[in-house]
Amino acid sequence: MLAVVFIIVTCAVWAWWARNSNKNEPPAIPGGLPIIGHAHLLIGDSIQLWNTVKELSYESLKAGGAIAASIGPRTIYVVTDPDDYLTVANTCLQKDNFYEFAKPWLGEGLVTGDLPIWKVHRRLLNPAFSQVVLDGFLGVFNGQSRRLVRDLEAEVGKGPFDHWVYTRHNALETICLTALGVDFTDKSVLNSEYVNAAEQMFNILVDRFQRFWLHSHWLYSWSGLRTKQDQCLKILHNMSNTVLQKRKADYLRNRDCKDVEQKTKGLKFKPFMDLLLELAIEKGAFNDREIREHVDTMIVGGHDTSASVLMYTMLMIGSYPQVQEKIFEELNSVFGDEDRDVTKQDLSQLVYLEAVLKETMRIYPIVPVTARRLDRDVKLRNYTLTRGRTCFMFVYGVHRHPMWGPDAEEFKPERWLDPATLPECPTAFAGFSMGRRICIGKSYAYMSMKTTLAHVFRHYKVSGDHTKLVAKIDVMLKPVSGHYVTIERRKM
Ligand code: HEM
Repeated sequence: MLAVVFIIVTCAVWAWWARNSNKNEPPAIPGGLPIIGHAHLLIGDSIQLWNTVKELSYESLKAGGAIAASIGPRTIYVVTDPDDYLTVANTCLQKDNFYEFAKPWLGEGLVTGDLPIWKVHRRLLNPAFSQVVLDGFLGVFNGQSRRLVRDLEAEVGKGPFDHWVYTRHNALETICLTALGVDFTDKSVLNSEYVNAAEQMFNILVDRFQRFWLHSHWLYSWSGLRTKQDQCLKILHNMSNTVLQKRKADYLRNRDCKDVEQKTKGLKFKPFMDLLLELAIEKGAFNDREIREHVDTMIVGGHDTSASVLMYTMLMIGSYPQVQEKIFEELNSVFGDEDRDVTKQDLSQLVYLEAVLKETMRIYPIVPVTARRLDRDVKLRNYTLTRGRTCFMFVYGVHRHPMWGPDAEEFKPERWLDPATLPECPTAFAGFSMGRRICIGKSYAYMSMKTTLAHVFRHYKVSGDHTKLVAKIDVMLKPVSGHYVTIERRKM
């Protein structure tokens, strides 16, 4: 009897302690079930997950920018107000526990890194993305763009083809050249093995998220998914470890050589890996595991993202002939009929091309959701979020906020050309996230993507139909089907 009273009292005390005294909570979405809450919304395939993200985005917008839901005992928030996104992003810098799922792969790299390590490492790594370093990459961006143009030649006049295969391989080679200082352009076997393993890892991460019982590390460790994960990690880590050991040996061999260009074997730029090795060997800033984690993060963060945006952008341009003609006119005014390399000055003149890229990322945000752990109560415009919970920021919803106007669902690159047609709020565009953990590779991405598109659209005319696209969430927003385009040669 005493034991029963003790249990009841303990539960009552626990319930009192865990009660939510926050009177200004965002409204809970309907449809919560006993015990599992809204976890049933996660069940289904990755197309279903994308549909859920879209539905919750609109629910959140309707409720004034934030809603609450629950996954079992865990309360989560969905934020879609741009100001609120920035508030959360800068108040709570720690990524949410869900990012732990990717830690066996990316460890304490910048995307998944815990706050204390992230603070130190981000400061150390920022110089690797300075404008001077990026300018040095322009030769690689041009070379790789020419390579893509050459590879696409095989598809001219042959009808619809999957251009994602081309943009992805090309972007992987580019990141290996610029970040690792390693040329994989002639090693397509390693290239496709790596790409497949990375793609499978993304599937595994999403599968785990959707099977909410596998959120428990213990249950996950017994699952078949974990076995599959271990096989993929072998391939992924083998590649980064091999590169690390080789580049480290090169670095130590050339240590006495003061000339950076010679150190990197005649390269005209300093690869990211060299900065890591310099900081590790000369200053003891990183151990081998940390270098590998940063390298893995840069490869993943740097190739799949840019390749996806390029794929969506080519599809959008192919779907809107008048946009394609405007791009061609802009390219003509900058390059005339010359097939020369793209320079730094050219990039700043490709204003319309940049508007098309931004508008594509607004309509198809390839990182549609980011998440933070709330380590304190956070006061938003209309609500207050409670500490200890998870906050999902839905970029898809942010990009459809009423501040974008009644034509928010339409693809209109022109909106980026006139400040009067853009939201006054500078954080209304969150394609690269926002705040202090904003994407470190944003400028790199714009430079490489603009260079690629400038080469491709000087040579080819593309047609496609983005309305046929069926999307899914594979961590990033990926197409399931309908992303095929056809190309024909332009007369230069
Ligand atoms: C169009 C291309 C790209 C897009 C749309 C993009 C988008 C993003 C987004 C949304 C985040 C925040 C992720 C989160 O909070 O969960 C992020 C972070 C990051 N991105 Fe990118 N990215 C792109 C290209 C790149 C490139 C080229 C690199 C490296 C070469 C890169 C490296 C990173 C890293 C290291 C982070 C973590 C930053 C931190 O937390 O300090 N990204 N990116």
